Amino acid sequence: MAKAKTVFVCSDCGYESPKWLGKCPACNAWNTFYEEKVQVTTSSGTNVKIKEKAKPLNLNEVKGEEAIRTKTGVEELDRVLGGGIVKGSLVLLGGEPGIGKSTLILQICDKIGTDGKVLYVSGEESAEQVKLRADRLNIKNDNIMFLGETDIDAIEAEILEMNPKLVVIDSIQTMFSNEITSAPGTVSQVREITARIMKCCKQNKITTIIIGHVTKDGNIAGPRVLEHMVDTVLYLEGERFFSYRILRGVKNRFGSTNEVGMFEMQNEGMCEVTNPSKMLISEEQGQIPRNGNSM
Ligand SMILES: Nc1ncnc2c1ncn2[C@@H]1O[C@H](COP(=O)(O)OP(=O)(O)OP(=O)(O)O)[C@@H](O)[C@H]1O
Ligand SMILES: [Mg+2]
Ligand SMILES: [Zn+2]
Repeated sequence: MAKAKTVFVCSDCGYESPKWLGKCPACNAWNTFYEEKVQVTTSSGTNVKIKEKAKPLNLNEVKGEEAIRTKTGVEELDRVLGGGIVKGSLVLLGGEPGIGKSTLILQICDKIGTDGKVLYVSGEESAEQVKLRADRLNIKNDNIMFLGETDIDAIEAEILEMNPKLVVIDSIQTMFSNEITSAPGTVSQVREITARIMKCCKQNKITTIIIGHVTKDGNIAGPRVLEHMVDTVLYLEGERFFSYRILRGVKNRFGSTNEVGMFEMQNEGMCEVTNPSKMLISEEQGQIPRNGNSM
């Protein structure tokens, strides 16, 4: 039997507490706790599946697979990724609202879509809105398929049917699973959806990019609660009144996190900045763009 239990969850880091707290003891954020009902499956429940037992393997006898990297065509991003996006990997791109996440990802879809289908799932924008952006970025790729859907069951079915080269989820906070009673964007929904996508895409070796909003209020779960689940975590950062953006890798299972990518947000999209000293000089009077929330 599945029973509902009430817990209080930090939307920043996912810390759970039986009572409401003003300050999170795990990440020190203030006012990030909200009430969430979670399904508890008891041991007699029907949801408990008997798992086949895993057997230990001799590591020397395991056939090693070299990571296959695909260039995204955006050099600044490829560098941050460690030389391209690894086939079958799960990448999380976080950033504040309006910072340019969808723009950057659509540009990548265009490059990766030159030799394979791309499934762009959006729960935020209509096909017409994304088309407008594509027109502005001068993207005319025939391989980019748009899916306006938020139900993970339908998304999973479409991924399996299409078997695309790349799947984009824009954004994780808009997606939901019927099996979880809490609202989209809550910690338990966001984790469940990510786990479902991860399983589906890893099994089929489909590269996946998940977009997540970094928010300051505690009503929706931030991308930080997913950092441990995914292979690579990138944050797009910048100041509202500057056009420059910095792409930072904070976790990478396939490379270092020492690189940053620099972009300028222009009419035609995110343009790579190959001469960062120019950017630093022009922002000297302001601040070097970063945001304190994702650290
Ligand atoms: N015509 C334009 N010329 C230049 N910049 C534009 C233009 N239209 C939009 N932008 C910029 O693009 C930003 C939005 O980009 P984008 O939608 O990719 O961001 P996002 O991070 O996906 O935002 P959201 O949180 O809404 O999903 C705007 O904040 C604005 O700075
Ligand atoms: Mg967007
Ligand atoms: Zn916390």
